[in-house]
Amino acid sequence: MATVAPSILSADFCNVQRDIEALDEVGITYLHVDVMDGLFVPSISFGMPVISCIRSITKDVFDVHLMIEEPIRYVKEFKACGAEYLTVHYEACKELKATIEAIRKEGMHPGLAINPGTDVDVVREYLPYIDLLLIMSVNPGFGGQKYIEGSTEKLKKAVSYRDELNPDALVEVDGGVKLENFEEIKSTGVDIIVAGSAVFKGDIKENLRNFQKKL
Ligand code: DX5
Ligand code: ZN
Repeated sequence: MATVAPSILSADFCNVQRDIEALDEVGITYLHVDVMDGLFVPSISFGMPVISCIRSITKDVFDVHLMIEEPIRYVKEFKACGAEYLTVHYEACKELKATIEAIRKEGMHPGLAINPGTDVDVVREYLPYIDLLLIMSVNPGFGGQKYIEGSTEKLKKAVSYRDELNPDALVEVDGGVKLENFEEIKSTGVDIIVAGSAVFKGDIKENLRNFQKKL
């Protein structure tokens, strides 16, 4: 069964504890944490001190999505601040295999993300070595963007490659998920559906209950 992973990027950072408690109250167990460096993507989000702080207020699984250049430089630091899944971008790593190995060596689950413009076939080579495959359905950098239509076909392919090459790996989708396209996305067989603005805008618990009804 698929699960919804709220993206903390869209939370109210003046009241982050309150927002996280709301997630916990409706049974959320998986949190998506977006890190942006202002290089790989135009925006800068937050870093280790903020992640450590969030770590101290929830037991949720931490799925840290690194939108940063050469993430291999920071693998140990992200382990130290509580990452469990650590996902890097195909487009951001010179030595992708070594980066995946470094994440595994630190005792985390390696994830691999691809941008909307990247052919899904590139993941085949790496699938046997990762625990999570993240298909971006918007160009990374900001919350609140529109779901790119071709993403559904890409997701279906990603799920079939996963089934063929590494059935234990999870497939995740990120960007532009709304109540309206949720069923179409879920029907691809994806495991983790990230939602940012659709969770945190308005009443968090009500938004999540509406998603949960569709699971
Ligand atoms: C975009 C981030 C997403 C973002 C999703 O670069 O990776 O996780 O927070 O936000 P929504 O669901 O609003 O598109
Ligand atoms: Zn993300």
